Amino acid sequence: MRNRIEVMHGVNLDALGRRPAAHYGDLTFERLEHRIGEFATDLDLDVRFFQSNHEGDFVEHLHRLEGMADALVLNPGAWTHYSWAIRDALEIAGLPAVEVHLSDVERREEFRRHSVVRDLCLATVAGQGPEGYREALARLKAELAA
Ligand code: DQA
Repeated sequence: MRNRIEVMHGVNLDALGRRPAAHYGDLTFERLEHRIGEFATDLDLDVRFFQSNHEGDFVEHLHRLEGMADALVLNPGAWTHYSWAIRDALEIAGLPAVEVHLSDVERREEFRRHSVVRDLCLATVAGQGPEGYREALARLKAELAA
C-alpha cells in the first residue's frame, strides 16, 4: 500500500507559537505536528516529519526520499518565495507533493504571493491554519489511490 507521506517544514516553522498570532495562531510546532499526526491516522496514512532551518539539510533530505516516501507535504516557510535550490531538489525527488501555508500568503506582503515550488505541486493550500494539512493529506491520499 502506498501511504507513506513525508511532511517537511522549512525555516522558522519550529518557532511557531512565537510568531505573529494574527497569521499563525498560537499553536506551537509540537502541537501542529501532533495535529497532523491525528489527521494522518484518520486518513490511514503513515506520516514522518522533518524540519530544518538549514537550506542544504532540507535539500539533502529531499534527495534521500527516493524509496522512503510515496508523497510529500511541504511548507518551506520563507524559502517558498526564493529558493531555487529547494525547487530543483523537489524536482529531483519526483514525488507527488502538496504545498501548504498556514497563513493566507495571497493576502500578506507582495513577496509572499510568489512561490518557486507551486508549479511542481499538485495543489497549494493556504490560509487554513492546521486544517490545511488535513486537506493536503486527503489530496495526496486520493492521488496515491488513483
Ligand atoms: C508560511 C508563509 C511564509 O511566507 C512564511 O515565510 C513562513 C510560513 C506559512 O506557513 O504561512 O515562514 O509558509
